[in-house]
Amino acid sequence: MDPNRVVIFDTTLRDGEQSPGISLNTTEKLEIAHQLARLGVDVIEAGFPIASPGDFEAVRAIARDVHGPVIAGLARAHAADVERAAEAVRDAERPRIHTFISTSDIHIEHQLQSTREDVKGQARAAVAHARSFVSDVEFSPMDATRADVEFTAEVLQIALDEGATTINVPDTVGYATPQEYAAFLGRLYELVPGLHDVVLSVHCHDDLGLAVANSLAGVQAGARQVECAINGIGERAGNASLEEIVMLLATRSADLGFATGVNTREIARTSRMVSRLTGYPVQPNKAIVGRNAFAHESGIHQDGVLKDRSTYEIMDATTVGLEGNDLVLGKHSGRHALKSALQELGFQVDGQALNTAFKRFKEIADRKKHVTAMDLEALVTDELRDELRSYTLAWFDVDVSNRRPPHARVAVLTPEGEEVVGDFTGDGPVDAIFRAINAATRREARLREFRIDAVTGGQDALGEASVVLELAGQSAAGQGVSTDIIEAAAQAYVRALSNAERKVHAVEEAAVPEPELTPTP
Ligand code: KIV
Ligand code: ZN
Repeated sequence: MDPNRVVIFDTTLRDGEQSPGISLNTTEKLEIAHQLARLGVDVIEAGFPIASPGDFEAVRAIARDVHGPVIAGLARAHAADVERAAEAVRDAERPRIHTFISTSDIHIEHQLQSTREDVKGQARAAVAHARSFVSDVEFSPMDATRADVEFTAEVLQIALDEGATTINVPDTVGYATPQEYAAFLGRLYELVPGLHDVVLSVHCHDDLGLAVANSLAGVQAGARQVECAINGIGERAGNASLEEIVMLLATRSADLGFATGVNTREIARTSRMVSRLTGYPVQPNKAIVGRNAFAHESGIHQDGVLKDRSTYEIMDATTVGLEGNDLVLGKHSGRHALKSALQELGFQVDGQALNTAFKRFKEIADRKKHVTAMDLEALVTDELRDELRSYTLAWFDVDVSNRRPPHARVAVLTPEGEEVVGDFTGDGPVDAIFRAINAATRREARLREFRIDAVTGGQDALGEASVVLELAGQSAAGQGVSTDIIEAAAQAYVRALSNAERKVHAVEEAAVPEPELTPTP
């Protein structure tokens, strides 16, 4: 392989999915994984199989269904974790087990309540055990950047001796500066010369806003794998953002000399899909994928760009897939046109799914003159959201006036297929319908966040609602799309409620409480 080729390891579905409020179901994870494969990432970290039966199922489904990238499963340095990860990734074309244990004294003493000797023994056993299942094993010394470099080097030597093929050095708490991080990796190369024979990887968190800068410093120090997530989602302030590191390496390739295998034209679509399915909005001024990332507001800038784009633009919006999507359908477009438009967007929709998509498309086309590629994307991702054990919105009435409080009456189908009806007089129409859903389902869910965005511009734009709510200590998100914003909001609320209820059931059914199974990087 080209010595300057940087492996892109996407952890949207593992570290990204650990962000508070995100609860993707298996269908949604699969859809994201397929899109990551289209984007051209090299490795997909599909989840943490021992964390819950849902995580295990999702990793296994991705391993079976998604072709191209290596599929990795995360495991603590425990035999049971490694075995569960091995089982989950077994059917992948190229399976990987990623195992980790902390090397910082802060973690060893306070979290693991163990000793350095014990950490060495656990690392040795975990890598050896993982190698008995797969030939591709990644090892991470968690919290490495706050650890003693000599001790971390000893542990890495052990991991290499046992056959690790990728060594990842996490800046778990986002504490390092680029110079420190590069120096830390440089020192590891000196202490463990065998690192030159495997892939060195970087995994940087963004607590001080340095995740991408640190990842670049790591690559310049010799690392050839970058762990990152779409839209930079992840624990706390998140992980290095995939789109930023990829476009940094692409835009400055003449000076930096590195390349990735990513098809950058798929970036915008991947970002929209992840934002939509996770319910995590992208800030308008976010580099690369923010709504304003290529917008010019000041007169001087606009004047310059009109004369020559290079005056104020270092990248072309089409290279990240933000423009040039001129596909448009209208109410006279037929099933065949819809199917080929969806195919062009990368969605293979047939049979019953095509019938449902066509019905939704017709409803929208009746209310909206032009249905664009972005509308279709929103519609198809919206259709993915419903699965078993879900509530569904049957119908609703909302009375709105500025002379009396709004009243909502709503009917919801329970997972058992029973129609339940509830009423509420609220502070506003959205409040009224949310509380009417609580009344219908007899659930005491509490709204934590609510947002409504337009999918495209224009008066007849589709509204996309996002809800985060809390039920019995579990928070979950849901989204809904409609030309009617009250309907989109109600749909989002009902889905968030279904997701929260699934989480409550999972925690009740799990032998070990969920928080203990989640690593706290
Ligand atoms: O941040 C971290 O240290 C992690 C490890 C599990 C690699 O996410
Ligand atoms: Zn992490």
